[in-house]
Amino acid sequence: MKQQPILKVADLSKSFGGVHAVNGVGFELQPGETLGIIGPNGSGKSTLINLITGFVKPDSGKVIFRGQDITGAPPFKIVTSGIARSFQMARSFSSMPVYKNLIVPLYSARARKLKGGQYGDRDETAIHLLEEVGFERDSSVPYKLAGSLPHGYVKRLELARCLALDPEIIILDELFSGMSMSEVASILPLLERINEEGKTLIMVEHRLRELFRVVNRAIVLNFGTKIAEGTPEEVVAVQEVRDAYLGSETEDA
Ligand SMILES: Nc1ncnc2c1ncn2[C@@H]1O[C@H](COP(=O)(O)OP(=O)(O)O)[C@@H](O)[C@H]1O
Ligand SMILES: [Mg+2]
Repeated sequence: MKQQPILKVADLSKSFGGVHAVNGVGFELQPGETLGIIGPNGSGKSTLINLITGFVKPDSGKVIFRGQDITGAPPFKIVTSGIARSFQMARSFSSMPVYKNLIVPLYSARARKLKGGQYGDRDETAIHLLEEVGFERDSSVPYKLAGSLPHGYVKRLELARCLALDPEIIILDELFSGMSMSEVASILPLLERINEEGKTLIMVEHRLRELFRVVNRAIVLNFGTKIAEGTPEEVVAVQEVRDAYLGSETEDA
């Protein structure tokens, strides 16, 4: 028997002026599943994530998380209930030390809900999380101002910020963009492990080879519409996907 999906997105639409950024998109995710969202620039990937996480309110459609309707709920409610996301344009508290950036999620309502006041040493937890995403523990990097970090580190800090919330679903919007090949290679095993630990993962990515090491299913957007869904092999075999997307991927390479 099929389990209840952890996330169900049904017929979600959002227009900005005359632009149908997301147009009737739906998909379902089982707990512990991994899903890639791919498509050319401007195809609606980030808007879809914004609709799921409450940063943009849909014109129509539904977002159901663990059987509960969270459509249009504010971001803080959605994150507290267990969906964390990173931003394509990584944001940090630039005038705070790197590890203090994680004190914020470690003191959040989500953390309070999960830990019931038993937080442990949150500075130590912050340093440990940074280590997990590849910051060197014994270097001075965790104590530098976040604003001074190179881009690849800022992206990894975004991932650590998500992990600090101990969410059920992690949504990563172009985590790999701006990372070096070796940074991506060092993050892949962590993403695989996060998924093995049972977390549900959604990744928007242009780097398909790396994406398909982590996810076993993908949806493809083009002009706000879902044009394909299936295993990596299935989606890249669809001619419309090749025309819409694979042509533009070579620009990034
Ligand atoms: N806040 C906004 N205001 C106006 N137009 C927007 C806004 N956000 C996204 N769009 C438009 O919606 C479309 C989809 O954008 P986006 O979701 O960012 O695509 P992707 O992440 O796939 O590159 C684009 O045409 C974009 O210009
Ligand atoms: Mg985007």
